[in-house]
Amino acid sequence: MRITVENAIERLQAGQVVALPTETVYGLAAALKCPQAIAEIFALKGRPANNPLIVHVSAAEEIPAYVTELPADFPKLAKAFWPGPMTLVLPVRLDTVPENARAGLATAAFRVPDHAQTRAVLKDGPVLMPSANLSGRPSATSADHVEVDFGEHFPVLDGGKCGKGLESTILLWNQQEKVWTIGRLGSLPPEVFLKVLGYRPEISKGGRQPVCPGQLYRHYAPKAHLTLVQSFSEEMKGVILGFEDRKYPHGCSLFSLGSSNDPEVAAQRLYALLRKLDQEGIAKAWVDINLPEDGLWLTLKERLIKAGAVR
Ligand code: TXA
Ligand code: MG
Repeated sequence: MRITVENAIERLQAGQVVALPTETVYGLAAALKCPQAIAEIFALKGRPANNPLIVHVSAAEEIPAYVTELPADFPKLAKAFWPGPMTLVLPVRLDTVPENARAGLATAAFRVPDHAQTRAVLKDGPVLMPSANLSGRPSATSADHVEVDFGEHFPVLDGGKCGKGLESTILLWNQQEKVWTIGRLGSLPPEVFLKVLGYRPEISKGGRQPVCPGQLYRHYAPKAHLTLVQSFSEEMKGVILGFEDRKYPHGCSLFSLGSSNDPEVAAQRLYALLRKLDQEGIAKAWVDINLPEDGLWLTLKERLIKAGAVR
C-alpha cells in the first residue's frame, strides 16, 4: 500500500513500521523512541537479535548528541559524503539509542540518506532502518520489491527506483587505534575516502578490528542456486547473470547487468535481477564474476559471492 510523507510521519509517531525509500535501497523504518516498533522490525524481517540497525537522521549536526567520542575527521567525512551512502559507527551514550536497536553494543551506526521524501520524514525525528527485505534475501530497490517481501498491504512510501542500488559503505571507528576501517563495502568505493582521510581505510577482517555483525550472515541470496564462474565453457547452459558486451555459450539466457564498463548500472540492476530469478522460478544460474578488484566492482563482486555462497 502506497502512503504519503505525511502518513509515514503519522504512522511512525503512532509506533508503526513503514518502508521508506533511500538512494541506496529501501528501508524498514521505526521511530528511534519506539523500542516496540524496533522489535517489530526484527520480527518482520526474521532478523537475528544480535544484528544492530542503522540510525538515520536528517543532518550530521544531530549526531554529536548521541556519541561519547567524535573523531577529529567526522566533520570532513560528513561534509564530503552526507547526505549520501556512507554510514559511520561510533561509540554512543547508551541512553540515546534503544538497546535492541544496538543489539546490546556500546556503539551505533549513523547515516544521513540522500532522498528528498525520506529526509522530509526524518525532519520529524530519527528512525532506525535496516534494508526492507526478509533477512538473508536480496535487498529491495523499488516499492514493488518491498511489497513482494512484506505483502501488498504493507505501508510503503514510494520514492521510485533507488539511484544507487547497493547499500551504504560502513566505516567503523577503531577507538584503540584511532583509525577508520571498512565494516561493509557499499556504494562508496574504499578509494574515495583517501582524499578526505589521507589514507584508504582497510577492509575489516575481524580479530582486533571491530566488525559489522550483519557481515557474518548469509546475504542477498535468491532461492536459485548460483554458480560463480571466472570463465565460461560451451557446456554451461541455462541462465547467466552477466554482461551484454561479453560472449557466453550458445543458447544461454542472459540476465543482463548492463555493460562490463559500467558498474553504476550493474549496481542499479543487481538486486532486481536476483529477485527476477525467483519470480521466474529459476532453480540455478551461472554468475559471471570475472570483474575488476577495485572501485564499485569490488562491492558488486562481494555481493555476488555472498549471494552465491554455498548453503
Ligand atoms: O544503505 C543502507 O545502509 C541501508 C539503507 C536502508 O539505509 N540500510 C542497511 O541496513 O543496509 P542493514 O540493516 O541491512 O545493514 C546494516 C549493517 C549490518 O551489517 C549491521 O551489522 C551493521 O550495519 N551495523 C549496524 N550497527 C552497527 C554497529 N554498532 N557496529 C557494527 N555494525 C553495525
Ligand atoms: Mg540488509
